[in-house]
Amino acid sequence: MKITLKVVLCGALLTAMGGLAFAGFAKPEDAIRYRQAVMTVIGQHFGRLAAVVKGQPPYDTNEVEHNAAVLRTMADLAWEAVMVPGSDKGDTTLNALAMKEKDNFMAVAQQFESAVQKLEQTAKTGDIEAVKVQFGEVAKSCKACHSTYRK
Ligand code: HEC
Repeated sequence: MKITLKVVLCGALLTAMGGLAFAGFAKPEDAIRYRQAVMTVIGQHFGRLAAVVKGQPPYDTNEVEHNAAVLRTMADLAWEAVMVPGSDKGDTTLNALAMKEKDNFMAVAQQFESAVQKLEQTAKTGDIEAVKVQFGEVAKSCKACHSTYRK
């Protein structure tokens, strides 16, 4: 009786682990939701910086530093979720090319991460002109990825 229970539990555990086969995501839809959530946060905080860079609201060093720090924290979270098989189908704008060209996609992602890191460092100096320039560099790297790897 006890042995049967152990066998059943082992089986259940293996099934649960098998369910996490896609880089920690149980289903391709989970990967889609995860990377869209990461991108939504990135979009929100980048948008707040965009407003400040345009002069509205007035430049606030702490706010700018905070938004840049959030971007840096989020910058490398989405990529694993991009590589999940089957997640190019359904409610997503991911171009399947990203998976086929994994090395190139990761190189584009790396450029973005470097640009964001530099933005965070620049934000700490409080030099608004330098922040504007680096904001532009990050914006270019958003576009570089989206224009190739989104539908
Ligand atoms: C290396 C690639 C890459 C970079 C860099 C990147 N994105 Fe994305 N982004 C994606 C992909 C892929 C999607 C599509 C996700 C999906 O629909 O599954 C996406 C989707 C989005 C979305 C829509 C999210 C949704 O809910 O559908 C927003 C907003 C967004 N990105 C903003 C940004 C901003 C702002 C930047 C730069 C600060 C940026 N992204 C940089 C790859 C990237």
